[in-house]
Amino acid sequence: MIKKFLDLGKQPLANKYLTKNDIIKKKREDFYHLEIGLNTKNKLVSILNTISSKKMFDNKYPYRASMSKTMQKSFKDLSLKIKKKFKPNFLMEIGSNDGSFIKNFEKKKVFGVEPCKNVAKITQKMGYKTFANYWDMSLAKKIKSKNKKIDLIYSANTLSHIKDLNSVFRSICHVISKDGILIIEDPSLLECFKKISYDQFYNEHIYVFSLLAIKNFIKKYNLEVFNVEKLNTHGGSLRYYIKRTTNNRFKINRKVKIQLNQEKIFGLNSFSAYLKFKKNVEKSRKKLKEILINLNKNNKKIIGYGSTAKASTVLTYCSINNKIIKYFLDTTPSKVGKYMPGSHIYVKRYTKPMTNESDYVFLGAWNFKKEIFKKERRFIKRGGKFITHVPKPRII
Ligand code: TMP
Repeated sequence: MIKKFLDLGKQPLANKYLTKNDIIKKKREDFYHLEIGLNTKNKLVSILNTISSKKMFDNKYPYRASMSKTMQKSFKDLSLKIKKKFKPNFLMEIGSNDGSFIKNFEKKKVFGVEPCKNVAKITQKMGYKTFANYWDMSLAKKIKSKNKKIDLIYSANTLSHIKDLNSVFRSICHVISKDGILIIEDPSLLECFKKISYDQFYNEHIYVFSLLAIKNFIKKYNLEVFNVEKLNTHGGSLRYYIKRTTNNRFKINRKVKIQLNQEKIFGLNSFSAYLKFKKNVEKSRKKLKEILINLNKNNKKIIGYGSTAKASTVLTYCSINNKIIKYFLDTTPSKVGKYMPGSHIYVKRYTKPMTNESDYVFLGAWNFKKEIFKKERRFIKRGGKFITHVPKPRII
């Protein structure tokens, strides 16, 4: 049974940026009702109304992993670890985006799967074999017929975007070798609840996983988690190392039990923790609105930094528009010059560290706070203030 615990209202598709022409012509945006529920049996948390993959991941998809040094470093560190520990002869990435992970491997040893054709083109041009397809059984069959055995599959921030998780794991089991390893990483439900980062939920993030849910879900595919790592990326993620239950090469690391205990102690097993999260989210909205509206009333200029899907979700939920936040700064070329979905806030090109662009800056990319604060130390030194809603709405 799926029990609803949170309602974030009507939301636009979080990565559907509008052009100037769309704004002039008052183009109708697609909205959907963002509600979140818990599967009480396997503890999987998901959004309740999903959008088709074809609509979300098309040939205009704007997200590029390489825009963040943090992500680049995370991928590089992991690839070194993989080479040292697992020594795969041949590996594959599901959701290879612009190649930030696969570029750390020799071209003949790796290939990518990336359904957004505009993004897949980037790695194809770099010379990496990339299937511009959605991950499903028909692709798995095609890959198996063409390739040697796959020792390792990696997928970051992708499996949680695919509605049919049964098809995901069935297809993985179809291609991975008997003693192959699957490494997946996605935002952690425990961190999301602790940080009250409700903006982890939006149309692309169909699931926010916990170890509890992953463990329960993969059992039927004779898969098990043998190690888990906490990551700072994307606001607090978990990296799961998964193997077949018949593979005795790796022992179950004690970190698995520790993480499971932490999730249970927090209450992810019981519905009351979910209702508490809902209350926290509603408080967070009230406080953030108060901060932004008061600053605006006092004629303080507010801009945004990092035009993320998360920011779109928060601003739509809190009914904050371009009258309150004048524009967003962002480095991603495919977002620059466009307007954020829902709030219609303009995205301006970020060219250099800020000096006195604004009195206050709303941190859309709060998950890169460390990297951004380092870059913007001059702005901070001169008295510039940031506003964040994580873990609590406040001015920094
Ligand atoms: P993400 O949170 O979905 O990974 O998106 C991060 C967004 O923030 C992406 O559009 C790039 C932008 N960004 C900046 O503009 N400047 C920065 O310094 C960082 C770290 C990110």
